[in-house]
Amino acid sequence: METATSSLAVKIWRGPRPGGFVAYPVPRHASQTVLDVVTCVQRHLEPALAYRFACRVGMCGSCAMTVNGRARWTCRTHVAGVADGNVLEIAPLANLPVVKDLVTDMREFFDKWARARGRFSGAHSRHDDFARVDPASPARRNADAGIECIGCAVCYASCDVVAWRPSFLGPAALNRAWTLHNDVRDTAHDARLRAVAGDAGCHACHTQGSCTERCPKHIAPTAAIAGLKRASAGAAVRGKL
Ligand code: SF4
Ligand code: SF4
Ligand code: FES
Repeated sequence: METATSSLAVKIWRGPRPGGFVAYPVPRHASQTVLDVVTCVQRHLEPALAYRFACRVGMCGSCAMTVNGRARWTCRTHVAGVADGNVLEIAPLANLPVVKDLVTDMREFFDKWARARGRFSGAHSRHDDFARVDPASPARRNADAGIECIGCAVCYASCDVVAWRPSFLGPAALNRAWTLHNDVRDTAHDARLRAVAGDAGCHACHTQGSCTERCPKHIAPTAAIAGLKRASAGAAVRGKL
């Protein structure tokens, strides 16, 4: 068993908002992740601590929290890379209601995917042949660029426009819309552009880029939103909006 090298001064947000930080001393280990720290607190110091995770390998998107003031996926964030000395402050994601402690209510986040028509609309059945899409085509490249989104909401929690204007669809929903806009099999391109071109849609983004800077999957929602701005402007010229 690995032995502790020192102690971390961990502060974890408790309660809904308004709540408060509670201090916990946690043994520090080599290669320890922030999720390891939260799990240690829940197992050994505070059994009632609420937090969310599933895969622990950067696939499910459920473990995102605010770590020393910045939204991050916690299962793949090493303490050594983010601790301020030996201080670690862990809070729920910003821009989302708090259910309890580190658990946020994700309903509005995913409702916005639905509002942005973030679902595939196809015209073929399972009896039809596979569609063949050239991997080198611009549309395929655009679609591939955003397809690995895991729905973690790190970008959403990092977006100032979401904070100022809660109706803004946000970077993840708009990235999803752009991904589907570039899927040549999809049949709802104009309807999707109408869904994202309104006041709370792509034109509200101020292109500052926090979403792109912080996405743990290295996706660029800023570029996706710029694509939607161009596509919706083109659709408006063609009388499709
Ligand atoms: S670039 Fe746009 S969507 Fe991304 S964080 Fe900034 S305002 Fe939000
Ligand atoms: S775009 Fe990146 S940060 Fe935003 S939800 Fe998807 S994976 Fe997370
Ligand atoms: S636990 Fe699944 S992404 Fe972190």
